[in-house]
Amino acid sequence: MKKMQLLQLCAFFYVTVCSQIEEVAISPPGNEVFVLAGSAFQFTCACVGSCKTPQFSWTRATTDSDGMRTKNSTLKFSNVKIEDAGRYTCDAKCDDSSEKKLKSVKMTVYAFSQPVLVMPSILTENVACDVTCSVDAFDHVDSVHISWYLGSELIKDETQQTLDAANVSDTLTLTALRDYTGKSLTCEVKADMRNNSKQVSYCLDIHYAPKINISASSSGMEEEEVVMSCRSDGNPTPTIEWERKGELWPKNLHRHAQGNVTGRLHRSNQGVYQCVAKNVVSEVKEEMKLEVQYGPANTSIQSFPQQAISYGVQLNLTCLSDMYPKAKQYIWTRIPDMALPKEAMVTNSHLIIDNFQEHHQGIYECRVIHHSGNTERAFYTASVQAEPESKVFTQMVGAVAGSLVSGITGGIVAGFMLAKWLK
Ligand SMILES: *[C@@H]1O[C@H](CO)[C@@H](O)[C@H](O)[C@H]1NC(C)=O
Ligand SMILES: *[C@@H]1O[C@H](CO)[C@@H](O)[C@H](O)[C@H]1NC(C)=O
Ligand SMILES: *[C@@H]1O[C@H](CO)[C@@H](O)[C@H](O)[C@H]1NC(C)=O
Ligand SMILES: *[C@@H]1O[C@H](CO)[C@@H](O)[C@H](O)[C@H]1NC(C)=O
Ligand SMILES: *[C@@H]1O[C@H](CO)[C@@H](O)[C@H](O)[C@H]1NC(C)=O
Ligand SMILES: *[C@@H]1O[C@H](CO)[C@@H](O)[C@H](O)[C@H]1NC(C)=O
Ligand SMILES: *[C@@H]1O[C@H](CO)[C@@H](O)[C@H](O)[C@H]1NC(C)=O
Repeated sequence: MKKMQLLQLCAFFYVTVCSQIEEVAISPPGNEVFVLAGSAFQFTCACVGSCKTPQFSWTRATTDSDGMRTKNSTLKFSNVKIEDAGRYTCDAKCDDSSEKKLKSVKMTVYAFSQPVLVMPSILTENVACDVTCSVDAFDHVDSVHISWYLGSELIKDETQQTLDAANVSDTLTLTALRDYTGKSLTCEVKADMRNNSKQVSYCLDIHYAPKINISASSSGMEEEEVVMSCRSDGNPTPTIEWERKGELWPKNLHRHAQGNVTGRLHRSNQGVYQCVAKNVVSEVKEEMKLEVQYGPANTSIQSFPQQAISYGVQLNLTCLSDMYPKAKQYIWTRIPDMALPKEAMVTNSHLIIDNFQEHHQGIYECRVIHHSGNTERAFYTASVQAEPESKVFTQMVGAVAGSLVSGITGGIVAGFMLAKWLK
């Protein structure tokens, strides 16, 4: 019950006291308010007290005529001009009361120009360059505060007195990194540390040299499809070209856009190739050695003496084969199932028997093993001719034995036949 009475008393007190306007307040507060020319600005007038329907009017000291009386408490400037400077008064009255309360404020208009950025049109990675921000046309400005931002990060700021200078500028030395590309460089200018600022931005595009990455897909065997690719970064995007060093470009390899080369490998393609990537910053080259493997093929055995062997001569056999790179291994055997004579000296592709004797006779096999794992064999029939009249026949055997024998089965059969026939 007591609580209720207290509330009623409170409400009564409130209405009587607050139906009056005690005081007028203007926001933003202060006797003098600095406003930037060119900005949008408004004063808002309010009454302290509790008049339910206050009416406001704004007047300018220099003009005699009363401002429009309205319920609207704001005085708006959509674009403040130097001429708008002056003293403004807000008066407020409540309902039908004739009592007015006044409040005035001095508006000072200050001005400075839109800042201007002067910088190189092209910025290159890791190359320091100067960027200048300048501002002029000062009015009611004692100092300017210039701040530099890279994206949203403050990178430099400084205050300069304007004094009587017509033009104030600040220079930033920027050493650009490629990841600045797409960020904006902003120069923000504030006068006398007041809130309003003007800024100028430049969207950065940092140029940098190409960097090449070459790759090739192929084991490098002849007849295989090869894809050599050359990629490069760089800004601006570089042009990419393939060349063959010191030689014309081979017809069987095709150069495509975007740095790809395709084709079926030929041994003549072996050589040094280079990819050239070029943009305005620089031209970069990268070399690649192309090795084409082939063989073994056309395997044969060369003999000294070339034709007839007689007892006591030195027999020198050399295993020849077309291949690249050179053989991984040569395996010499005597067939069928005959061990090499212990007098035979074998070094890689050579087999030498210094003092040829009857028991050295037989069919010698050379097996070439290539790095690729491919193998090929050749056979040579070594026999001593007893009679001079069989010379013609031995020559023929030599010719057969020295020729290419590509199938092992065929080779062995041929070998058997020859061996048997010679005995
Ligand atoms: C005052 O008038 C302006 C338009 O002139 C309007 O945008 C604003 O909302 C009004 N304010 C009040 C408090 O009525
Ligand atoms: C201000 O001075 C700088 C050089 O200090 C010049 O580049 C710029 O053009 C000047 N700005 C104006 C608006 O005069
Ligand atoms: C200026 O900015 C400060 C901090 O952001 C703020 O407290 C103050 O009210 C602002 N003044 C005006 C006039 O907007
Ligand atoms: C080159 O490219 C390959 C595959 O495209 C990649 O794995 C490698 O990291 C790249 N190297 C460089 C230095 O960019
Ligand atoms: C270039 O070759 C790479 C593989 O090495 C492939 O991923 C890419 O699609 C090729 N580009 C063109 C344009 O052929
Ligand atoms: C065997 O013949 C090869 C050529 O076929 C030769 O290079 C080598 O020196 C000869 N060896 C001997 C010991 O005569
Ligand atoms: C075998 O010899 C022929 C004729 O000389 C040649 O055309 C062919 O390319 C050779 N093969 C290899 C794998 O060297």
